[in-house]
Amino acid sequence: MIHLGDQLGLYRAMREADRPITTGELAASTGTIERWVREWAFNQAASKMILAHPDGRFSLSPEAAVVLADPEHPAFGMGMFHRLPQTMKALEHVRDSFRTGVGHDYDSHGPEGAVGIERSFEPWNRAFLVPVVLPALADVVDKLDAGAAVADVGCGAGSAVLLMASTYPASTFTGYDISQYALARARTKLDASGLGNAEFHDPRNTALPRDHSLDLVCTFDCIHDMSHPQAVIEAIHESLKPDGTWLLVDIKALDTFEENARKNPMASLMYGISVLSCMSSALSEPGGLGLGTLGLSENTAHEMALAAGFTRFRKLAVDHSVNAFYEVRP
Ligand SMILES: C[S@@+](CC[C@H](N)C(=O)[O-])C[C@H]1O[C@@H](n2cnc3c(N)ncnc32)[C@H](O)[C@@H]1O
Repeated sequence: MIHLGDQLGLYRAMREADRPITTGELAASTGTIERWVREWAFNQAASKMILAHPDGRFSLSPEAAVVLADPEHPAFGMGMFHRLPQTMKALEHVRDSFRTGVGHDYDSHGPEGAVGIERSFEPWNRAFLVPVVLPALADVVDKLDAGAAVADVGCGAGSAVLLMASTYPASTFTGYDISQYALARARTKLDASGLGNAEFHDPRNTALPRDHSLDLVCTFDCIHDMSHPQAVIEAIHESLKPDGTWLLVDIKALDTFEENARKNPMASLMYGISVLSCMSSALSEPGGLGLGTLGLSENTAHEMALAAGFTRFRKLAVDHSVNAFYEVRP
């Protein structure tokens, strides 16, 4: 029902109305049929997603308006619901995965899967990446202003690359991803942007340069999805200059199931998403490590970084509901 509210523009119309409205008004403003909208509204009000008023009208609370209908707000939450049909479709092939052990990469969720991921992470990044996250890294903003070489590994549809490329025109940015749908979307957005300082590659065709030439490598919510994360971390180490920086952003996970279950109110959701998406991706190739959504705790990330040759590992004081941020240096 949340997916429908997003895709049919029902939440957006309620936000734009900015007052309680009838299901007839909601249907008229979205080109839908009132009887269907009424049943949807009853579902949404019964679950307290929207507010039902005694006179039969419906409205959004201020919090619901930003989470459900404002893609410019960092708390916008419709990305995961955008890809709900694709995530649930994974139920069909994941039964086999339980028997074979082999999972499915992000392209198994189709082009709309890549859009859903983009819509999930872009709003927060747009609000905080440039003003908060990058300045939390030692020396990095000065280098970006002067002209730095940057890679975003597991870049998805390229939102962070394009945001940074437009903010720092003297620097060059290369996004790497194995998802053809995400890469196609990233390249389409790059063409539309007119930016000349960004490009996107599949690392299986054009690998990260292993020549210590990069100033900054970013990984946003993707190391735990990778089948061979240790090899990727080693490649990141070899790509960085001796004074370079790896910005590691990944899910705030704890070391054990007991801690995750006790301290993370979203643990159940995350273990479910892991089976359908993250762990499945991390087991999509033979010998995959299969970390999964809650598999990369700070201690695990630190150990993997040390094993790859990094010597400095610092957690950044960046507040995020789901993610942890680390500065990792050679
Ligand atoms: C949860 S998405 C995050 C995408 C993007 N960083 C963002 O924040 O929107 C994880 C991404 O990691 C990519 N990925 C998985 N394994 C990879 C690998 N070995 N190399 C590069 N990308 C990989 C997936 O294709 C997917 O696009």
